[in-house]
Parts: sequence; C-alpha cells; structure tokens
Amino acid sequence: MNILITGGAGFLGQQLIRALLDRGSLDAGAGAQPIGQIVCFDQVEGAIVDSRVRNVAGSIADPATTSALVGPGIQAIVHLAAVVSGTAEADFELGMRVNLDGTRHLLEACRLAGHRPRLLFSSSIAVFGGDLPPVVTDETTPTPQGSYGIQKLIGELLVQDYHRKGFIDGRAVRVPTVVVRPGTPNGAASGFASGIIREPLAGLPAVLPVDPATEMWVASPRAVVRMFLRAIELPETAWGWHRCVNLPGLVASMNEELAALRRVGGAAATALVRQEPDPRVIALVRTWAARFETRRALAMGFTADASFDDIVQAYVEDNPAAIRPPA
Ligand SMILES: NC(=O)c1ccc[n+]([C@@H]2O[C@H](COP(=O)([O-])OP(=O)(O)OC[C@H]3O[C@@H](n4cnc5c(N)ncnc54)[C@H](O)[C@@H]3O)[C@@H](O)[C@H]2O)c1
Repeated sequence: MNILITGGAGFLGQQLIRALLDRGSLDAGAGAQPIGQIVCFDQVEGAIVDSRVRNVAGSIADPATTSALVGPGIQAIVHLAAVVSGTAEADFELGMRVNLDGTRHLLEACRLAGHRPRLLFSSSIAVFGGDLPPVVTDETTPTPQGSYGIQKLIGELLVQDYHRKGFIDGRAVRVPTVVVRPGTPNGAASGFASGIIREPLAGLPAVLPVDPATEMWVASPRAVVRMFLRAIELPETAWGWHRCVNLPGLVASMNEELAALRRVGGAAATALVRQEPDPRVIALVRTWAARFETRRALAMGFTADASFDDIVQAYVEDNPAAIRPPA
C-alpha cells in the first residue's frame, strides 16, 4: 500500500503521516494492507524521518510535477496542499493557482494514470458563509463568501465529477476549524481561535480580535486525523451518490475557550489574552457558519471531540515542549 499525501509537510499532513506510521496499515478498498511507502509531497520538506516516508519537494501548481506523482503504485491519495483562507484572500492569483489549478492537476494526474485511485479531498466549512440558517445541515446550500471557500467548493465539485466518470474513488470532507494549531500563527483568518490557547500556555501574550461571545465550529487535530482515516477507509458504497460530507465538531465560543484555558493554565494564562476588536476580522467571522447538524457524518461513523476541555488537554499532551509558565 502506497499513499500520496499532498501538503504532507503541513500541520495536518505531518499528524496524518504519524498516525499512518503508528497504525502500520490502511484499507483503501482491498482490505487492510501494510503501508509500503508514504509520499510526502509539499513545497517544503517534511520533518518526519522514517524509512517508509519519501519526501518529494515541488509545487502542485506545476502540472508536470503533479502528473509525475500519481503512478499505478499509488493506491490512496490525501489531498491537503492548499494556501489557507487569509492567504488565498490576500493573494488571489496564488489561491487560484494552488487551490484550484493544483487540485485540477492532481485529478488529471489520477485520470491519466488510469487505475482509479482512492482520493480524499480536504475541503472546509468555509464553503458556507453569508446569510445562513441558524444551524447548517446536510441540506444547506454552500454559499462561500471568500476566494478560499469558493476554491474549496469547486474542488469538491471536481472530485464529485471525476468520481462520477470513474477516474477516482473520490471523497471530500468539510473540515471544521482545527484548534489548537501548534507552532507559529499561519495565514488562516481563524488563527486567533488557536492563538488564545496556544500563546498563553506558552507564557506569551495573545490578542482576541472578536467579541468573546463569537462562536466557531471546531475540532482538534486528533479528531480530524481520526476522521481523515475513516474517510479514506469507508467502503465506497457508504458514501452513496454524494461524495462530500460536513464533519462533526463542537460549537465553541471564545468565552468557552477562555474558560477552558483558565481551567488548564490558571488565571495567569487568561490574563495574557488582550481583547482588541479588529473590524476586518469581525466582519469576516460574522459570515462564517458556527452551528452544524451533521446527521449524515454521524451515521457514517465520524465522531467529534467530547468537549473543548478535551481539545486543550490533547494539545497539552501532544505539545509538552510548547507549555511554559507566564514570563
Ligand atoms: N487547519 C484548519 O483549520 C483547516 C480547516 C479546514 C480545512 N483545512 C484544509 O486542510 C488542509 C491542510 O491544512 P493545514 O492546516 O495542515 O494547512 P498547512 O498550511 O499547515 O498545510 C498545507 C500545506 O500545503 C503546502 N502547500 C502550499 N502550497 C503548495 C504548493 N503550491 N505545492 C505543494 N504544497 C503546497 C504547504 O507548504 C503546507 O505544508 C488544507 O487543504 C486546508 O485548506 C484546514
């Protein structure tokens, strides 16, 4: 079993690769097979050193590079390479090149390879926005309000059509905002939802740019990686005609996040969070969906985190070196 992970050197890519290496096998339609090789494709080098991981550097926006990635030896593909929301909004051409053209190049590579690999596309709840019902359901029409969400929605539709034509066994998942993201802030507009936990737990100041009552639909990296694995392994028939699903998550208000931070890091940690409303971020966040009813995903066996406290606890367990008392 050989697996290609695009964007494999990124945050979720590295966590997914570690999870695959730990479990040692994957079922991509022919029963559980031992993992032979994981191709970690990214424009930057992945950090995982393991004889089963091959790092390949290049841009998914380059059709020749991308077509060379998908040979008959690749049975499963997880397509994570993307520029995130804030970056795609700030640099329209880059977002189109990577998120739209890159996805199309990868799907074309699959079509031309001719062996119908199983492909999971990591979409986003950013496909929902604007004037939404109070609760987004499986029937809510996607109405993205930004370039990133539009690129993700087009990607979903392409996966649907390449699947319909028999070029891939395609599936797509709409991922909630993933918190707590370790490391340094990235270009995601939702970055503060991680920052107000991560920075104070590292003894550093953080800014909350929105009203503390603001709610978001969130999931931990552990839960998302678990749901990615399920999305790959579910039998083709479990997806039916519609190849995309809204993933389960939790509704977390920033007040709830701060309460969880206080329970783990104490008052000294919450004192490091400064409220500094940013009208640009407030206007953007107002267009996002925060409450979902994910009946279809739950019936397919996808599961979310139990509580926001569990999310913070998992972050502390997984990132011990990032936890420091306030300076
Ligand atoms: N993290 C979240 O909250 C979240 C939520 C919804 C959806 N997603 C989606 O999940 C996927 C992974 O997200 P992440 O949080 O790990 O992001 P990330 O930014 O950490 O990883 C994306 C990776 O894609 C790579 N990449 C960018 N341009 C590339 C190019 N031209 N060629 C090759 N590689 C390129 C980057 O170098 C990076 O390593 C993305 O598709 C993202 O849109 C993430």
